Amino acid sequence: MKVYNFVLVGTTMCTAGEFSLNDLAGGAGRLDIACRFVNSCFFLSHSLRRNVRCYLHLLGEPEPPKTVLFEGANLRYLNPDERSAGSLIKKALSVDVGEGWARSTPGVYVSGMTFAQLIEALGSDFMVLLSEDGADIRTSRLSASDELTFILGDHRGLPAPLEQHLLERGVDKLSVGPLSLHADHCVVLVLNELDRLEAGWR
Ligand SMILES: C[S@@+](CC[C@H](N)C(=O)[O-])C[C@H]1O[C@@H](n2cnc3c(N)ncnc32)[C@H](O)[C@@H]1O
Repeated sequence: MKVYNFVLVGTTMCTAGEFSLNDLAGGAGRLDIACRFVNSCFFLSHSLRRNVRCYLHLLGEPEPPKTVLFEGANLRYLNPDERSAGSLIKKALSVDVGEGWARSTPGVYVSGMTFAQLIEALGSDFMVLLSEDGADIRTSRLSASDELTFILGDHRGLPAPLEQHLLERGVDKLSVGPLSLHADHCVVLVLNELDRLEAGWR
């Protein structure tokens, strides 16, 4: 089965577990966006996408950078409400980190690696920056790889130095449509494109 990686860069999102689940959009630095992103990565009507990995690269205070990884193959205790994802993120952000992956709960890991280290570690041969000004995703060869990685920005977009880093690595920019959408909605559209390809619809 193909593996799909989704990376969200959260420019303001909290990097310690001290935030309140009642204030995900405020005091937690827009972690509500990350929670919806996680849900879009995994939830089908009555099951989870086990072939997806979701990386939340968080750059907010007080301990940036931190990356929380949700790995579909081993994921447990995730329910479709935002507070459920928020609670798993909160637990992960309470774990001590180094440059490797530390396990938090089943299928959830956390690391203190930099963006460059994360991109290096992902190393998939098909890596895409999703961007409003990218080429139409329907013109790209999504079917050519067994592991695909999609990188997205948050409400502020991807920071320019990170975009520059990706472009210098030869990463392509692709767009899912002519309008600027929320990151979690882009994930749903990309997964739909991949589902259609896998099912032989195009
Ligand atoms: C809310 S948008 C960013 C908003 C916008 N860049 C800004 O700050 O004015 C969040 C992310 O979703 C992705 N995105 C939004 N619309 C897209 C589109 N039409 N095609 C591909 N990616 C898109 C991009 O990765 C973007 O950084």
